[in-house]
Amino acid sequence: MSDYLIETKQLTKIYGDQTVVRDVNLHVKKGRIYGLLGRNGAGKTTIMKMILGLTSITVGEVDVFGHNIKGHEKSIYPRIGAIIETPGFYPNLTGTENLEIFARLRGTAGPNAVKNALEVVGLPYKDKKLFSKYSLGMKQRLGIANAILHDPELLVLDEPTNGLDPIGIAEMRGFIKHLSTECGKTILISSHILSEIALLADDIGIIDHGVLLEESTMKTLEKKNRKYILLRVSDISKAMLILEQKFRVSDFDMYDDHTLCLYDTSLDMAAINKALVMHDVSVISSQLCNDTLEDYFKRITGGEGIA
Ligand SMILES: Nc1ncnc2c1ncn2[C@@H]1O[C@H](COP(=O)(O)OP(=O)(O)OP(=O)(O)O)[C@@H](O)[C@H]1O
Ligand SMILES: [Mg+2]
Repeated sequence: MSDYLIETKQLTKIYGDQTVVRDVNLHVKKGRIYGLLGRNGAGKTTIMKMILGLTSITVGEVDVFGHNIKGHEKSIYPRIGAIIETPGFYPNLTGTENLEIFARLRGTAGPNAVKNALEVVGLPYKDKKLFSKYSLGMKQRLGIANAILHDPELLVLDEPTNGLDPIGIAEMRGFIKHLSTECGKTILISSHILSEIALLADDIGIIDHGVLLEESTMKTLEKKNRKYILLRVSDISKAMLILEQKFRVSDFDMYDDHTLCLYDTSLDMAAINKALVMHDVSVISSQLCNDTLEDYFKRITGGEGIA
């Protein structure tokens, strides 16, 4: 079986003559938090809706739990919890009453499901407060509680922190982390806020104008946030050999055919330059760089940074 809980293959959505999602190959691994990052209109909600069967797929495929969603809806969807846009809660009922209705409608929740779900998001059970009197933060929490009522293995959360203040955002982050680390849920979450994804996600997909520009682990991406030495040389293979054998350098990447990124900035560059030249490797340039994650996003999305 595949390692992925969600895998999309060439997923594409066309509205009229506009392609809003193009050839997206997403890979969400079991037990991880996958952050889908993209500015407004990038296609995040549309991708999630296609995964959840809430809008049709124009071209491509979605596999969830190792099966194509087409024809397996009944076995797949009860194992997923989701928040897509605002859930339709009844304003004149309390949070507990709302959840009890949803639990009954879904028919799969256990006897303590409502109590347990409210506990995870820190809302009181059997509280008298009506939903219409809830703050936005409480409404968002109730949305999460509703999504986890039936104890799903996979959560799909579309911008759950939208509109929250910094404290609300931090609290929401806490619930989501808890669901991942303590309850073992796999989570696909979207956001247009870079720092939010950076703090929460294990893996990240960057979407821009419907195209998945990059997909990697957060760890790999953080490397791009480090200080490094960009070394341009005439013969990269020879240079790598000298660095490894003479200077015991192991933490580096090939940037392109002539350029290396050395992540140990305490290296004695004068000695390295000298050794390279002595072995007939010309050093075209050597430069200390400090790319922030923000710089990186600006570069790959070709414009303004994302929040
Ligand atoms: N029903 C629809 N009909 C036509 N175009 C649509 C429809 N739904 C979405 N779009 C377009 O598809 C594109 C992607 O929209 P989507 O809502 O998926 O983006 P998003 O990344 O979720 O944005 P946001 O951060 O604002 O929520 C946008 O250009 C949007 O206008
Ligand atoms: Mg959206």
